[in-house]
Amino acid sequence: MATSIVEKFHSMEYGPAPEDPGEVNKWLDAHQRTFGHYINGAWTAVGSSKFETRNPATGEVLARVAQADAADIDRAVKAARAALPGWQALTGHQRARYLYAFARQVQKWSRRLAVLESLDNGKSIRESRDIDIPLVARHFYYHAGWAQLLGDLTPTGFDGEEFRGYTPVGVVGQIIPWNFPLLMFAWKVAPALAAGNTVVIKPAEFTPLTAIAMAEIAAEVGLPKGVLNVVNGAGETGAALVEHPDIDKIAFTGSTEVGRIIRKATAKTPKKLSLELGGKSPFIVFDDADLDSAVEGLVDGIWFNQGQVCCAGSRLLVQERVAERLYDKIRARMETLRVGSPLDKAIDIGAIVDQVQYDRITKLVAMGIAEGATCWQPEIPMPKNGLFLKPTLLTDVHPSSTVAQQEIFGPVLASMTFRTPAEAVELANNTPYGLAACVWSENINVALDVAAQVKAGVVWINSTNLFDAACGFGGYRESGYGREGGKEGMYEYLVPAWTKNAQKAEVVTQAATDSPKADGNGSGPGIDRTVKQYIGGKQARPDSGYSFPVYNREGKLVGEAPLGNRKDIRNAVEAARPAGNKWAKTAAHTRAQVLYYIAENLIQRREEIVRKLSEFVGEAQAQVEFDSSVDRAFTYAAWCDKFEGSVHNPPFRMVTLAMKEAIGTVAILAPDDAPLLGLLSLVLPAVAMGNSVVAVPSERCATLIGDLYQVFDTSDLPGGVVNLVAGRPMELGKTLAEHDDVDAVWSFRDEAAAAMVKLGSTGNLKQVWTNEGRAIDWFHPKQSQGLWYLQHATQIKNIWVPYGE
Ligand code: NAI
Ligand code: MG
Repeated sequence: MATSIVEKFHSMEYGPAPEDPGEVNKWLDAHQRTFGHYINGAWTAVGSSKFETRNPATGEVLARVAQADAADIDRAVKAARAALPGWQALTGHQRARYLYAFARQVQKWSRRLAVLESLDNGKSIRESRDIDIPLVARHFYYHAGWAQLLGDLTPTGFDGEEFRGYTPVGVVGQIIPWNFPLLMFAWKVAPALAAGNTVVIKPAEFTPLTAIAMAEIAAEVGLPKGVLNVVNGAGETGAALVEHPDIDKIAFTGSTEVGRIIRKATAKTPKKLSLELGGKSPFIVFDDADLDSAVEGLVDGIWFNQGQVCCAGSRLLVQERVAERLYDKIRARMETLRVGSPLDKAIDIGAIVDQVQYDRITKLVAMGIAEGATCWQPEIPMPKNGLFLKPTLLTDVHPSSTVAQQEIFGPVLASMTFRTPAEAVELANNTPYGLAACVWSENINVALDVAAQVKAGVVWINSTNLFDAACGFGGYRESGYGREGGKEGMYEYLVPAWTKNAQKAEVVTQAATDSPKADGNGSGPGIDRTVKQYIGGKQARPDSGYSFPVYNREGKLVGEAPLGNRKDIRNAVEAARPAGNKWAKTAAHTRAQVLYYIAENLIQRREEIVRKLSEFVGEAQAQVEFDSSVDRAFTYAAWCDKFEGSVHNPPFRMVTLAMKEAIGTVAILAPDDAPLLGLLSLVLPAVAMGNSVVAVPSERCATLIGDLYQVFDTSDLPGGVVNLVAGRPMELGKTLAEHDDVDAVWSFRDEAAAAMVKLGSTGNLKQVWTNEGRAIDWFHPKQSQGLWYLQHATQIKNIWVPYGE
């Protein structure tokens, strides 16, 4: 009987094509399948405290690994600290050579590393061999380049052409997850070392082996001892690393839950922090999309790495008209997915990393079904043993149901439909996360328009899950902050050199606010007037009905400022949101015009403002402070249309547009010194980059806001873009830091204020930027304006756009 070619094609069977684990087994056996920590260039003995790592495809114990306690962490941190001066004394070129050597060794050992990764994690060899390991090598090569270009470290920072004036942050503690053990190791270690830091890294407890292999490579390339330390253990070990007092920065990838714990644990310290957390990324398919390509994209989007991917396209949003057609295609494709031994070169889906994760996934799917979703799984052969799950499609998912909101981190796709692009955007943004998104449409206008509106750090147009060391990766909102890769990733491991020697900032508490008085008609003899809050472009009486007296340097009453409370802050945040949405879309040229206009109107009122400022800071400073403020307004007017994104050329047929976007609503606690210039030095860059602001001025000079809002009012600044609420900064700052509709909080007061805003930020994981309680010379442009400010006022979204057929 004749069978058609199509039938033959469909019945074609793959034979098993197993990768040989012999080489890796030899390596494991050579180590007696037991590993200590790699500290100060040597392996520690393995004591009684250890744990097992298994092959999740078979349940076989691969090795026993020492579990680090606080004392081990302390030894590792001490080694890293001791190694820092030597590492930093090398030339940039010498550091580059080490990173280059890492890349070469990764290539040399690529097969062994790939097999080891697949054994320990359960991911398919096809993925570890063709995706993870090449990206690891690429990451080290790329960062060897940055080490070279940074140049040599001098007391005033690196002397290269890039990152001039920046200096390494110091000793870095890094905690990585189990889903891409080696790739996350590279993402963390390569930029940290390239930037002249030393490292203590803790791999995940399910997958410690490839990091151990990398420590061996560190020894092979002769990396100076203590520069890279690898310690193993579970959550408690991670917590000990986070809490170690001699760490300058923590970089974490993992769950949002642990991200919150780390934010809290580091709040009272100046530790720099970057968090790469979970996601619930939308995979948006418009009715004009090439549906077959979209289906292939989905296979990579959600079934890549068994769906254990932070940026997995786990929420399919499909335009209603093509939904059934797409589901049919997806189901047909799912019937062809092969689940099986990770070492089989022809399988698509390997094993789930651990029983814990397996149970978490199955529980969430059951919840989804209980909440009304329709569950579909293909009839495909499944291995008898091991932690394997079928690819799963959930349709009829309600946007508010658990499986539409929570990260499942498994091979489970939850699908919803939409009608219009606006609805697609609304659904896409309807989670607390913001890591990645895919947009499928043959209409580039629609695709880019949607890409711009989706709140995500990475957007793939007609593609998915593409990564490159030159293109930053990282989240918006509760997916964390900071970027890995690209130039922006390097800044996570650098700080302006001057911050290392800065003094402590002084704040002046205004005892008078302890005795507020009823907000009367204000101006008595000698008092200028009673100023109000500035909310939504209008002067507003404080909700409390109280104001507080403001005195000059001689203790003479100069006016009354409104005593703001939670309600005033809530009103200000409410006004800031819609104003900011519009302002971010306002052309950069127009924003520049408004800032120039602010400068012009300041000049108009020079005499009056200088007179009032003199009451607080004396005539001499007032003059300089005023003139510097005008200068600053000009600076940020200039930057509006010049602090631009870039275009990357990743090694695919893609361009990646690295767009600098506004963060949203930024809350600002202004410093006490330089009350006018300090406030404007923070408000202006935020506004220039398209954010809206709720600022709390210095309490002791709070009446100055009256002059400022008169300037803003006459400068075409749309109402609500800048809101000024006076009162007690610690109290108002707490409300702002805890407010879920604030996207970033900046504190430039003392250490207590910095700790307070960090603690308050954990709810929605808003971005936090503080002076760490250090004094800033607001008159010194190197410290008080420019790149450092602009970077904190923006977040980078990488939009991948394919070209060619
Ligand atoms: P996890 O966040 O607990 O683990 C990630 C890393 O953090 C591991 O190295 C772990 O040992 C360490 N860790 C755990 N508790 C810690 C603490 N208190 N202080 C410092 N370090 C700590 O993630 P887990 O439990 O393995 O997975 C839970 C869920 O998290 C997954 O289902 C998934 O939704 C999400 N996840 C997201 C990842 C991502 O790439 N964004 C990676 C891994 C998990
Ligand atoms: Mg394992």
